[in-house]
Amino acid sequence: MYRFIFYSFFIVDGECTFGELMKYVIVYWSRYGNGKKAVEYLSEQLEKKPGEAQIFTTDEADPASLPDADAYIFSAPAEAFRLQSDMKKFMKNLEGLEGKPFGIINTHAMKRNWLGSMEKLLTKKNMKKAAAVDFRVEGDPKTGDALPENWQTRIDEFAQHL
Ligand SMILES: Cc1cc2nc3c(=O)[nH]c(=O)nc-3n(C[C@H](O)[C@H](O)[C@H](O)COP(=O)(O)O)c2cc1C
Repeated sequence: MYRFIFYSFFIVDGECTFGELMKYVIVYWSRYGNGKKAVEYLSEQLEKKPGEAQIFTTDEADPASLPDADAYIFSAPAEAFRLQSDMKKFMKNLEGLEGKPFGIINTHAMKRNWLGSMEKLLTKKNMKKAAAVDFRVEGDPKTGDALPENWQTRIDEFAQHL
């Protein structure tokens, strides 16, 4: 009888109350807000999984002591024919994330994306790729509203891999 009540409680509850929520840390750099918009939406989707998401800009976080998480997401634009420099530096200085899964987001205006560069930097830290998505901005990126039409669907798919 007690066993029945015990199990029913957890089934009715609908979630595994024993299991800890997945924790996510998102670090981004965004000049005009397009990438910021993407990570803010991503964070909402991760919370719905359900999970716990913390967002930081590269200025707000210390790459050598990021909070503990089950997966790490990094987002930055292409600038000057390479990955934006603050994010590049941040990734080079990451410490203690060996074996952790990562997701990467790159926004860019030209044809080429810089996901390969992001992946290389994180693989060097022995992190494991879980998801990657790039957005070629359309129109004037300065409006902060230049992500392509299907961006939310693509973030939803990205979130499913994390
Ligand atoms: C100084 C500067 C340099 C840029 N250089 C590139 C580039 O080399 N390649 C590219 O695809 N986009 C380039 N862009 C466009 C940015 O990638 C685009 O503005 C950005 O993805 C928008 O995202 P954000 O709003 O998060 O900053 C550049 C933009 C700026 C401001």
